Amino acid sequence: MTRYKKQDPEITRRKFINAAMGTSAGVGVLSLVSALGSAKPVFRLTADVAPPMKGDVLVHAEGPNQGQVVKASELSDKLVRAYPKGRDSKGTEVIRDKDPTNILAVYKFAPGTLKEPTKLDATIDAQIVAYGDRCTHAGCNVGDDPKTSGHMFCPCHSGQYDATQGCRVLGGPPPAPLPQLPIKQEGDQLVVTGFFLSRPYGFNKEEDWEEYIKKVEEAMA
Ligand code: FES
Repeated sequence: MTRYKKQDPEITRRKFINAAMGTSAGVGVLSLVSALGSAKPVFRLTADVAPPMKGDVLVHAEGPNQGQVVKASELSDKLVRAYPKGRDSKGTEVIRDKDPTNILAVYKFAPGTLKEPTKLDATIDAQIVAYGDRCTHAGCNVGDDPKTSGHMFCPCHSGQYDATQGCRVLGGPPPAPLPQLPIKQEGDQLVVTGFFLSRPYGFNKEEDWEEYIKKVEEAMA
């Protein structure tokens, strides 16, 4: 078992953040400080917990190449876990690995394999695709289903996803697909072109995720 197989539900932290934000967004990613005596909590976002966003480059999250750029030429139909790497406000490179929801699953499938509801215009040549790798049920990391190429299996409660069809849920308790992350290729690198296209783990509704994106954009501006 890798260190990514299970994550704490972060119930306590999410409760705190939900209370601080005054929303149902269960994201466990922000550095939120509720200033004593102030009427409103302060929303503070640091680069290492910001979600994957436009301009980030994908780097290996584990294994001998951890921290190194994920190359398009090395991908296959076997899962590669990655983190986004961006820059902080001073321009220093930062791997956004302090939020477990930022872990990504990256694949390259044979031509014609990826089908809708995968957003094909957010893939590379309809072959390379990236998804959030945190199960939408309770936040465990999802791996390859050893029985079927292109299918993913969650070890916690046997959730199943189809990575060739937008990571739609095939079985088990997950309430939503794994979110697709839009990417493009620059040289042999994979570059993020926007935020997750649907809500990742920790957000109960799409509106909560959209509201959070707005806060992130304001904080990073
Ligand atoms: S956490 Fe994945 S199925 Fe429950």
